[in-house]
Amino acid sequence: MVTHTFTVEYTEITGISNLEDNDRQLLQKAWEACDSAYAPYSGFFVGASLRLENGMTVTGNNQENSAYPSGLCAERVALFSASSQYPGVAFESLAVVAKTEIFKLDNPATPCGGCRQVIAEYEMLSGKPIRIILQGNSEKIWIVNGISNLLPLMFHGGDLKK
Ligand code: THU
Repeated sequence: MVTHTFTVEYTEITGISNLEDNDRQLLQKAWEACDSAYAPYSGFFVGASLRLENGMTVTGNNQENSAYPSGLCAERVALFSASSQYPGVAFESLAVVAKTEIFKLDNPATPCGGCRQVIAEYEMLSGKPIRIILQGNSEKIWIVNGISNLLPLMFHGGDLKK
């Protein structure tokens, strides 16, 4: 019997002003996107902004629906929009922010399982890790370098090869 162990890591930074310029700008764009989120059912507003290797930035926010499962998370709105507009261009960094007056959100909200799998897909496509920058209701910012830190033992598209 063998037990395998994974180590995952993230960096914590306090305050947006302590980020490097390009990360700060990306996080600010995520906050702007968050302001336009359509989240009347949950009251949980999420914004995402994605920096592409070609210098473009694509944003998204959560879009809810009265038929709940028909809605979509902010991350996937941004990721799918970017991939549809710029097919094949690698994604460098993804900033995700969340705000809510209803729930306690001391730590940054981390992407849901479905969004992690979608991030994994685009990493596999480009062969490059995507940095993920997260912030919630506090000054706390978490930076995760690549999806393997959020989704160890992920399902891999390579498993579908015959
Ligand atoms: N949500 C996101 O936009 N991203 C996540 O990673 C987690 C959850 C949205 C979905 C729904 O509109 C609301 O937050 C509450 O779950």
